[in-house]
Amino acid sequence: MSKVTVIGAGAVGATCANVLACRGVASEVVLVDIKDGLSEGKMLDMFQAAATQGYKTKLVGVTATDAEGYKPTANSDVIVVTSGIPRKPGMTREELIGINAGIVKGVVGNALKWSPKAIVVVISNPMDTMTYLALKATGLKKNRIIGMGGALDSSRFRCYLSKATGVGIQDIDGMVIGGHGDTTMVPLTSKATIKGVPATQFLSKKKLEQVAADTMVGGATLTGLLGTSAWYAPGSAGAYVVDAIINDTKAIVPCSVLLEGEYGQEDICLGVPVVLGKKGVEKIVKVDLTKEEKAKFDAAADAVRKVNGALYEIGALAK
Ligand code: 2OP
Repeated sequence: MSKVTVIGAGAVGATCANVLACRGVASEVVLVDIKDGLSEGKMLDMFQAAATQGYKTKLVGVTATDAEGYKPTANSDVIVVTSGIPRKPGMTREELIGINAGIVKGVVGNALKWSPKAIVVVISNPMDTMTYLALKATGLKKNRIIGMGGALDSSRFRCYLSKATGVGIQDIDGMVIGGHGDTTMVPLTSKATIKGVPATQFLSKKKLEQVAADTMVGGATLTGLLGTSAWYAPGSAGAYVVDAIINDTKAIVPCSVLLEGEYGQEDICLGVPVVLGKKGVEKIVKVDLTKEEKAKFDAAADAVRKVNGALYEIGALAK
């Protein structure tokens, strides 16, 4: 028996819940939202698809405006946080901090009241800062707070590598570390492979740089096309992280986690490859970076640290 709560029934949260159900990741998925009827409606819609999709997951929709309302989420193994406003065209993820910090802090507290042992997966933006906020505000051990940005950005990196080479996604591997921001992502082009062969043997330096650039604005491109933030890839990446935890897959996934000296950084949540399993973050994997990659990673840390500073300015964390 395993139970996952997804907080926020917007497009990302609902997609995440749907992927969890379709892939049979957990025996029960609870979707929570503040808006009356939204979660109940989306979960009923998914249940109406169960016969044709063939899934058996128990699906529960809950409207909750305070901690008491989170009772149906009790004893969840994993809590996924998608709450907050999405960005509009032209906005950066960082601009969302003022509204989203209060929302994220509140919902994480409400959910942990009923599931004190749960592992928390953060999707809300700005993701690295919201992960840091969740960690600091709850005081949970660092293995239990995971920001999923790197899983999404790496998925986008593989998408653009596939488009550039014409090779199927199943033969393409690659990671994005650093921040989950248009200018803070660090796609590791030097380590990307195609059927185990370095991508540098398939693509020119210029083409690889274009793949990296496309990856970094992968979310912004969609925001421009859709008029709001993306959901299929973010929801799916969230479900992928949950699957690794619930099913103890020990997958190596780039995620935003607290660094305490690893990669030369501390007191910051930033994307690095980690082993995911039932304890959450089970290990931070050390990868040798080129000089250029390390410089970009350090610049990402500086930028994210600056945004984290705003948490204290707006009173989301005490100085
Ligand atoms: C994205 O990159 C929602 O941050 C998410 O699409």
